[in-house]
Amino acid sequence: MTNPTISTRSPRPASVTARAGTNIALVKYWGKRDAALNLPAASSLSLTLADFGSETTVRFAADAGESGRDRVAFGGAPADAKFAERVRRFLDLVRARAGLSFPADVATTNTVPTAAGLASSAAGFAALALAASRAAGLRLSPSELSELARRGSGSAARSIFGGFAEMHAGARSDGSDAVAHQLLAEHAWDVRLCVAITAQGEKEISSTTAMDRTATTSPYYLAWIASVAADLAAARDALAAHDLATLGAVAERSALRMHASAMAADPHILYWNPATLAAIATVKRLRADGLLAYFTIDAGPHVKVLCASADAAKVQAALAATPAVLRVLVLAPGPGATIVSES
Ligand code: PMV
Repeated sequence: MTNPTISTRSPRPASVTARAGTNIALVKYWGKRDAALNLPAASSLSLTLADFGSETTVRFAADAGESGRDRVAFGGAPADAKFAERVRRFLDLVRARAGLSFPADVATTNTVPTAAGLASSAAGFAALALAASRAAGLRLSPSELSELARRGSGSAARSIFGGFAEMHAGARSDGSDAVAHQLLAEHAWDVRLCVAITAQGEKEISSTTAMDRTATTSPYYLAWIASVAADLAAARDALAAHDLATLGAVAERSALRMHASAMAADPHILYWNPATLAAIATVKRLRADGLLAYFTIDAGPHVKVLCASADAAKVQAALAATPAVLRVLVLAPGPGATIVSES
């Protein structure tokens, strides 16, 4: 008799490499309705970026790993213990789903400049979800991949899709409806995101810890969550109309409200530095001069500026000339998670 578990995961490739771009939210995700399953308290909307992501190779085999434990490499060297543990917990989900018990070799490289301290977990877990599920013999739909990626990092659910994506908070307790879907493909609208790097190194407090503290101590948390639905509806309409001014205005107020809720936590969470404020001032000056440029800020001090591709060089130059801005990257919309190779 055939084992039904084995038949769902066959044939299984020896090794799979997948790539995913990071994404930047224009309507932010900040707060969970279930921490264990990484279920967001509100929906969000993002732009996936090209050439700014993560590539991961996964191989499940009896002879993989070290002493039966997953071997996790990052950037060509053994990953630090915290990162490796996060990857192992994620692989356990994939093994359970595929009915597989082999350890894995995982090798991840980031095309996000890690020294820049920009978030890479979105790209990392989207690439890992795709590579690990395929290497385990699973063939998941984009929606199933989004659900799986979410377990690694909430924002990773959006990086399964290219261009603009919406992540649904969902209502089910098992999280099966907390998935993203694409709103606009990457080539549908010629915009750019200029990223002003304002500090080196890691952020001081992880988004998970910060979200939890905001939810439990900030008097503004519920007001923040209540504000998201209107921003999301406005952003969806603006996207459909390719209305940069409206989308940009939504992005700025969503970021500021998210940060306001975090700043009001106890102890406070303040990600900004003086260069963050200087970059915001630059964006406002550009706008006063008639250029459509709009900022957003994530769980860190960097300032990301949305503009039309025709204006990107001007925005880049203005940000680069802003005191204490270290450098400026210009990024285009990119595709969703893809398989690079399979053997
Ligand atoms: O996916 P996480 O847990 O790293 O949270 C992401 C949080 C923000 O980047 C600040 C906002 C967002 O929607 O991406």
